[in-house]
Amino acid sequence: MLPDLRHFLRDDDLSPAEQAEVLELAAAMKAAPYDAKPLAGPQSVAMIFDKPTLRTQASFAAGIAELGGHPMLVDGQLAGIGKRESVADVARVLGRQVSAIAWRTFAQADLAEMAEHAGVPVVNALTDDFHPCQLLADLMTVLEHKPQLAGLTVGFFGDGASNMGNSWLLAGALAGMHVRISAPEGYTPAPEVFDRAREIGAETGGTAVWEQDPRAAAEGCDVMVTDTWISMGKEEEAQARTEVFGPYSLTQSLFELARPDAIAMHCLPAYRGKEIDAEVLDGIQSVVWDEAENRRHAQKAVLAFLLRHVGERP
Ligand code: NVA
Repeated sequence: MLPDLRHFLRDDDLSPAEQAEVLELAAAMKAAPYDAKPLAGPQSVAMIFDKPTLRTQASFAAGIAELGGHPMLVDGQLAGIGKRESVADVARVLGRQVSAIAWRTFAQADLAEMAEHAGVPVVNALTDDFHPCQLLADLMTVLEHKPQLAGLTVGFFGDGASNMGNSWLLAGALAGMHVRISAPEGYTPAPEVFDRAREIGAETGGTAVWEQDPRAAAEGCDVMVTDTWISMGKEEEAQARTEVFGPYSLTQSLFELARPDAIAMHCLPAYRGKEIDAEVLDGIQSVVWDEAENRRHAQKAVLAFLLRHVGERP
């Protein structure tokens, strides 16, 4: 691996200062979308999706093009990653063709293996454990509505053990936010993730708690977040999950317990009447479509940041 090669595999691959730098760059790129061309050539960026996608594929493809590059969709099924060829060999081959790789897959360990062998920056386009690109877009969106991130209180309602729960803990801690995960027992983030969030928070002023009672968690929140109860790959648990997550639905009455100027967030796809009321998702305090748009700007910024840290190709 190149000594100065950087990846974005989880939220805390950026330091607090680097996260702030990427968010600032994302806002600048949103204001002037066609100015920065770090992928001029065009250089290619591989995008691989082992799970369904809409926002991630569209925003990476559009963003890579705006950076002057070529978005290369690599069919993970055809490539047979980890079956026909090992993850390491796929990484070595792709790294000779492209300037960066964005991969949506299941196991975080597979993503780490790709990063170890690719020789180019690897970006997490969602794994079972983390969704850091979404969090950059989400924090960028919060900043469009609030003067600063540090000190804000965020309530996350639903599957706290999901990629979104984990990423809110880490990214929120990096930004100095107070993150409350409101989830039923059995669906709380792994202790290691809580520990890591608290370790980061000791530096930034952020805090991380589990609050089982959704009404208590909602009190005084600046940001109210939820996500599907049935993440990709969990479809077989649909019934059990629907039974347990009911009280954590982001209903209008729960939303009203937050601050009057609170914003409602959801990474989408959303299931109205399940994890969120249509009234909240489609209401005037919802910022979900901005979050979706900001995926493009945030991912462009993180790609530009990572490409600045790449030395000579091997
Ligand atoms: N937790 C969800 C996020 C979707 C963008 C999932 O993994 O399906």
